[in-house]
Amino acid sequence: MTTINPAPTAADSGARATERFAADKTNVADTPPERVDLLAREVLGAVHDTIRRHKLTYAEYNALKAWLIGVGQGGEWPLFLDVWVEHVVEEVATEHRHGNKGTIEGPYYVPGAPERGVGDSVPMRDNESGSPLVWTGRVTSTDGAALSDATIELWHADSDGLYSQFAPGIPEWNLRAAFHADADGRFEIHTVRPAPYQIPTDGACGKLIAAAGWHAWRPAHLHVKVSAPGHELLTAQLYFPNDEHNDDDIASAVKPELILDPRPGPNGGEAIAYDFVLDRA
Ligand code: DHB
Ligand code: FE
Repeated sequence: MTTINPAPTAADSGARATERFAADKTNVADTPPERVDLLAREVLGAVHDTIRRHKLTYAEYNALKAWLIGVGQGGEWPLFLDVWVEHVVEEVATEHRHGNKGTIEGPYYVPGAPERGVGDSVPMRDNESGSPLVWTGRVTSTDGAALSDATIELWHADSDGLYSQFAPGIPEWNLRAAFHADADGRFEIHTVRPAPYQIPTDGACGKLIAAAGWHAWRPAHLHVKVSAPGHELLTAQLYFPNDEHNDDDIASAVKPELILDPRPGPNGGEAIAYDFVLDRA
């Protein structure tokens, strides 16, 4: 029997992303007043400049106010911020690094995924569709040393572009796992190719996209968090060559260093080789 899942909505994935974010307060700064004053004044000043430069009308101001209220009511702040703001925060936060380039985390990471070893498959449904992917790689430190206790947390969308725990009807940990590397820092991960992803278009973010004449697509991507004791956590995404949205990702998160070079692999699928170099903490 085929089960037809209800369509995911912006409100459902937004509410879930809001709940997830609220549950994890480990990296939220207690920002001192001088810094809040500086940042808030500059942001508001930039808004004021835009209003003056383009002579914003009251009707446009009210449209903005209605839209901002809608972002909040729809629970879409995590979607909005991670698509249109996070890429610059990531750029600034990692500019000192000598190891791998990273990119945005996005709203759909969940800690505590099932653990797997070298050569294992990510949890997937019996009939999981999508081309098989075998990914081999190695994790080292910037000085070349193998990181034997590295962990690669992987999460990605399915072949419909949907994430478990954020779209209805998908098993909890589907296409999510934490892979341990071997004594030489090597790993081998079996999964399936994700589809390109469209950010939910039925809510406030979708309204902005439609009103501005933009598109809602992110290129197909694999999300990872690579960690090892004594090293900085690397949050990245890997992309596939020739995806039409690699050059105009709605989230501006693609970097040339993050594009894979897939070769023909087992079972009619693809083999990918991609290593990680971590900076010392
Ligand atoms: C969004 C979704 C993603 O999968 C991602 O990687 C970045 C942003 C979003 O819907 O906001
Ligand atoms: Fe994503």
